[in-house]
Amino acid sequence: MLSYLNDYMSKQKYTVTAALPYANGPLHLGHIAGVYLPADIFVRFMRMKKEDVLFVCGSDEHGAAITLRAKKENSTPQAIVDKYHTINKKAFADFNISFDIYSRTSNQIHHETAQDYFKKLNANGSFVEKTTEQYYDTEFKQFLADRYITGTCPKCGNDNAYGDQCEKCGSALSPTDLINPVSTLSGKSPVLKETSHWFLPMERHEDWLRTWIKEGVLNGKQHHNVKDWRNQVIGQCMSWIDGGLHPRAMTRDLDWGVKVPLPNAEGKVLYVWLDAPIGYISATKEWALENGKNWEDYWTGDTKLVHFIGKDNIVFHTIIFPILLKEHGDYILPDNVPAYEFLNLEGDKFSTSRNWAVWLHEFMAENPTKTDELKYTLTCIAPESKDSEFTWKEYQARVNNELADILGNFVNRAIVLTDKYFQGEVPERGELQDIDKDVLKELAAYPAKLDDLIMRYKLRDAQTEAMNLARLGNKYLAETEPWKLAKTDLIRVKTIMNIALQITANLTIAFEPFLPQKSREIAHFLNIGNLDWNLAGSDSILAAGHKLNQPAILIEKVDDAFVEAQVQKLEATKMETASSFAKQKENISFDDFTKMDIRTGKILAAERVPKADKLLKLTVDTGLDKRTVVSGIAEHYTPEAVIGKTVAILMNLAPRTIRGVESQGMILMAENGEGKLSFVSPETGFEGGCEIR
Ligand code: MF3
Ligand code: ZN
Repeated sequence: MLSYLNDYMSKQKYTVTAALPYANGPLHLGHIAGVYLPADIFVRFMRMKKEDVLFVCGSDEHGAAITLRAKKENSTPQAIVDKYHTINKKAFADFNISFDIYSRTSNQIHHETAQDYFKKLNANGSFVEKTTEQYYDTEFKQFLADRYITGTCPKCGNDNAYGDQCEKCGSALSPTDLINPVSTLSGKSPVLKETSHWFLPMERHEDWLRTWIKEGVLNGKQHHNVKDWRNQVIGQCMSWIDGGLHPRAMTRDLDWGVKVPLPNAEGKVLYVWLDAPIGYISATKEWALENGKNWEDYWTGDTKLVHFIGKDNIVFHTIIFPILLKEHGDYILPDNVPAYEFLNLEGDKFSTSRNWAVWLHEFMAENPTKTDELKYTLTCIAPESKDSEFTWKEYQARVNNELADILGNFVNRAIVLTDKYFQGEVPERGELQDIDKDVLKELAAYPAKLDDLIMRYKLRDAQTEAMNLARLGNKYLAETEPWKLAKTDLIRVKTIMNIALQITANLTIAFEPFLPQKSREIAHFLNIGNLDWNLAGSDSILAAGHKLNQPAILIEKVDDAFVEAQVQKLEATKMETASSFAKQKENISFDDFTKMDIRTGKILAAERVPKADKLLKLTVDTGLDKRTVVSGIAEHYTPEAVIGKTVAILMNLAPRTIRGVESQGMILMAENGEGKLSFVSPETGFEGGCEIR
C-alpha cells in the first residue's frame, strides 16, 4: 500500500503538445519526422514510465493559410478545414501517433476559451489599443497582414517573407517591416490605410524573458533534466530579444477566425498566433471533459509543459505564447521547446505547391502494415540539429540492413533456436561464464542510457541505443555459437538461450516508444504482455519453463522494385510540374512581329541598382550606340558575370524610368519552370548588333 502510494505521489505530470498543423493540406513526411513522431516517442516513453502525461494536438483552422487555400481551391474556408481535418486526423491515427486528443480550433469550446483569454488579458491591461496605418489592397478591399502580404525580409533578404514571419530565418515580422511589399491577392503594391487594433507590448517583457531562457539553459546543463534547451532554440530567441521586442498586433481585420469579444470590434478577429496556441488549452479542456479529469491540473503547479514544433514556430512558442501565459498569470510556462529543423526529399525541399512530397495518408493507404518501418527510418534521419534528407534508398537500407538484419535476425534466432532445442520453452540458466556476465552487465546498463537520452530529447541516439541491444544479442550468439554447441553441450546451450531470450524480452521495452507495433509483435512471440519500465535491464523477465509462441517473420525486406516504383512516382510529379508550360498566346500578324526591333548586343558594363535586389544597370553596345538598360536579373547574375556577354535586346521598347534610371530597351531572357533566368545568346561571330528576325 505504502509503495503504491509512493508511486502515485511521485508521478510527474507532463503536458506535451505537438504544433497544431494548419488544416490547409495533407501532412507529409517532413511534418512527421520533425514534430509528430518525436513527440509521440517522448510521450510513449513517459507513459511506459507511468508518468501522468497528456498528449494534445489538433487542427489549426484559422489564419490566412486557410483562407488563401480556400481561394486557390475555389472553395470555402469551412469546406477546406473540414476536408483536411478529416484526412489528417485519420492519417495520424493510421500511423499510430498516440494523441490523447486531436481537436480543432473551429470547435465552440476553443472559440470560447480563446475569447475568455483575450478578455481577461484586455481587462488586465495587457494590450494597447492603437490606430495605425496598415497595408490595404484597394482592389480586394482588404487589409493585408500575415500571408496576405509578401516581400523581402529585412533581416535575411529572403524575397518571399510573409507579413508576420520569414520562414527562412525564423524572424517574426510586421507587414511594415517588409521591403517591396506585395499583396498576395492582387499581386500589386498595397496602399496605407488607418485601422485600429489591440497590440501586445512585447517590449515590456524583455527582462524576464531573458532571465527565464538563460535559467532554462543553466538548469539544463546542471541537471540534465528536461530543461536541456536546444542551441538553435536559445540562439533564435536570444537574438530576437537582443534585437529589441516591439508591440505586435493581436487582432486582424478579417472575417474568418475567432471574433474579437468586445463591443466596437465588428469585422475583427484574433490573430491566428494568439488563438492557435490557446488551442492547446482548449484541447486539454475538451479531453478533460470527456475523461472526467480536471484540466487545470495540466496547466498549473509543477506540471511540465513541453512543445514539440518545427523551427519556423520557435518565436511563437518561446516568446509570444510565454508572454501571453505570463500575462494570464495562472498557467505554467513551457519547460522545453524541442524544435526541429527541416527534412528534404530526394535532394529537394518538400513542397506542397509543387507536389514534391511523400504524403502520409498515401503512404498509409499503400503500406498499411509498414508504420514501424517508416517510423524507424524517420527517427534515424530526424532533423534534430540540422536539415536532413529522406530518400527511398535510405528507407530500404534502414529497413533491410538494420531492422531486418539486426533486430529481426536476432529475435528470430533466439526464438527459432529455443523452439528447435527446447520445444519452445524458456530453458533454465546454469553457471555463468565471463562472456555471459559481460553481456548481462551491458544489458543492465541500457535503461539509464535510454532514459538520459530521451529526457534530453536526443531521440535519434536513443533509438540507436535500443538497436545496440539487438546488436549485443547478435554478437553474443555469434560468439557463443549455440548451434554448434547443441551437438555436444546442451546444458551450456540452455544458459545461452536463456540469456538471449531475456535480451529479446528487453527489446520489447527498449523499442516500445519507437516501434510500438513491432514491440508488441515480439512480445507476442514471447507470449508475454506489455512490460513495465521497472523491468528494463532485468535478466530474469522470463521464467524457466515459460512457453513461447511460434516464431514468424518480424520484418519483411524492401525489394528494389518497391524503391523504383516510389522514385518513379516522384519523377512523374517532377515531369508534370515541368510540363506545365504557359499556354501559347493569341496569334499575331506578321506586321505585329516586324514592329519589334530585336538585335544582338554586347554588355560592356554592369552594376547593381541601389536598394533594388533584383535590378542590374547594364551598358550595352548595340552596334548602333551604347545605351543603358535596366534588367531584373540581379538574382541570377552578378555584375561581373554578365560583362562581355552577347545577348538579345529589344531596341524599340519605349524608354522607361526604373528606380531613377532611364532604361532604353529590354534584354530578352529565357525562364525555366523554377523561375530561373538565362540569356538568349547567339553563337560567336554574331556579337556586333545583328538583327534578329
Ligand atoms: N499551424 C501552425 C503551423 O503549421 C502551427 C501552430 S502551433 C500552435 O506552422 F501553437 F499555434 F498551435
Ligand atoms: Zn528572413
